[in-house]
Amino acid sequence: MAYYIGIDLGTSAVKLLLMDGSGEITKQTSREYPLYFPHSGWSEQNPEDWFSAVCGGIKELTADYADDVKGISFGGQMHGLVMLDENDDVIRPAILWNDGRSAKECEYLNNVIGKSNLSAYTANIAFAGFTAPKILWVRENEPENFKRIRKIMLPKDYIAYKLTGVHSTDYSDASGMLLLDVKNKKWSNEMLGICGIDESVMPRLYESYDVTGTLKPEIAEQLGLSGDTKVIAGAGDNAAAAIGTGTLKNGRCNISLGTSGTVFIAQDNFSVDDKNALHSFAHANGKYHLMGCMLSAASCNKWWLEDILKTSDYDGSQRDIKTLGENDVYFLPYLMGERSPHNNPDVRGVFFGMSMDTTQSDMTQAVLEGVAFGLRDSVEVAREQGLKITRSTVCGGGAKSPLWCKILANVMDMEIVMLENEQGPAIGGAMLAAVGCGEYIDVYDAAEKIVKYGKSYLPDKNLTAKYEERYKKFRKIYPAVKELF
Ligand code: XUL
Repeated sequence: MAYYIGIDLGTSAVKLLLMDGSGEITKQTSREYPLYFPHSGWSEQNPEDWFSAVCGGIKELTADYADDVKGISFGGQMHGLVMLDENDDVIRPAILWNDGRSAKECEYLNNVIGKSNLSAYTANIAFAGFTAPKILWVRENEPENFKRIRKIMLPKDYIAYKLTGVHSTDYSDASGMLLLDVKNKKWSNEMLGICGIDESVMPRLYESYDVTGTLKPEIAEQLGLSGDTKVIAGAGDNAAAAIGTGTLKNGRCNISLGTSGTVFIAQDNFSVDDKNALHSFAHANGKYHLMGCMLSAASCNKWWLEDILKTSDYDGSQRDIKTLGENDVYFLPYLMGERSPHNNPDVRGVFFGMSMDTTQSDMTQAVLEGVAFGLRDSVEVAREQGLKITRSTVCGGGAKSPLWCKILANVMDMEIVMLENEQGPAIGGAMLAAVGCGEYIDVYDAAEKIVKYGKSYLPDKNLTAKYEERYKKFRKIYPAVKELF
C-alpha cells in the first residue's frame, strides 16, 4: 500500500499525519516550537525550528512505513516572510501572518499607491501581516538585511526547499503575499517594482497538486525515505483545510477555529468585492476562493484559559455554561489587532459589561461568543455581496468543542457540520500529495472518497433571535472604543 504524509505547518505546532492510499489515517504526531513576540503586536518564528520539528515528525511517522511513502505535501501558515541569503541561510526570523508591525507600510500601500491600484494588480489590498508590506518594512528598517535577500519564500515553501532544493510555491499561498496577480496567476511586475525586488528572488509558481521535486539524496538518507519520494506543492493552510473538509464546489464554506479564525468560501470564478473586505485568493483545487480572517480565534480561548486562568481543562471550563444567548458580558477578540473586517493592527481585546455577579463562566462564554461574532462579521460581508451561506463545515482546535459549534450555528444562523475525523490542513496536505502521485484523479475525487461528515448543528429560532440582538450590540462596541487604541 502507498502512504502519503500531510504536514500542517501551524503557528503553535506542526502536525503531521500518515495517510494510506485509501484515505485512512495510519499515524499522526505533532511537535511544538517557540513563537516570539519581541514587541506588542510583533510575531516571529525561526524557520530552522520548523524544519527540525518537521524532520523529527516525519521520522516518527514513517519508522515502519519508510519504503512505502510516495509523497509529501503541506498546508502552511500563510503570509510569513522567510528570506534567504546567497548561502541559503535564513537572514532573520520569519515575520508571521499575525504580525502587526507594518501599519505604516500598509498605509503607504493603501493610500499612496492606492487601494484600487493594489486591487487591480493583486485582487487584494494591503493588510498588516501580508508579505509585501513586511518586505517594505525590512527595506526601511533593516536595510542591511534587505540587501542580502536572494530568495523570498513562504513558511511551508521553506520546508519544501530544504527537502528538495526547489524554490517553489503554490497559487493559494502566493495569493496572500500581495505580490501575485491572483486573477492571471502570475507575479505582479508592478508589486515587485513597488517592493524593490526582482522576480528572480521569487519562487516558481505551481498548482497545489503539482509535483515540484523529489527528496534531495542527503535528506532522503537522513529521513530514511526513498530518494524517489515526491514533494507536492501543497497550499496555504486555509486552502489545504478546504481540501480536507471537502470545501470545493462553488459556494461551499468552511470555518476554521484555529490560532486564526477564517471563513473560507469556494468560488469557481474569480471575483473581488468592491471594498476588498474579503481576501480574493486562488484555491488549491485550481479555482478561487474568498476569505475573511480574524487574527485571534481559538487562541483567545487558549489565552483566557492557559495564560489568565492558568488551566488547561478546556472541557471543564465550558461545563457550567448552560444558558446561551443571554450573557451580559461581551469580548472583543482583538488580542493581536484585527484583519477582517477592521484592518486595524492597533486595536486590542476588550471585556465589556461585567457586574458584581459576573462569573468566570460568563467570561469564558463571552470569549467563545466574541470569536463567533468576529467570524460573523466576515460572513456578513459575504452576505452583503449576495453570497448565500446556509451551511459550513468547521475545523481547527476550537471545532472539538460541541458548545462552540452550537454557538456558531446560532450566531451565524447556519448549519455547522463537524468532520468525523477532523484533521484540517494536515489531511488536506496528504490528499494533495496523493493526487500529485496519481492515487486519485483530482482533488474532487479524493474529497469524495476521503472526507467524512459527522454531527451537524442546526440553528434554533429562539437562540438565533437572541444572538441577533447580542450581535447588534457587539457591532457597536468596536466603533465606540477604536479611537482609544
Ligand atoms: C489567513 C491567515 C491565517 C494563517 C494561519 O489569511 O493569515 O489563517 O494562515 O496559519
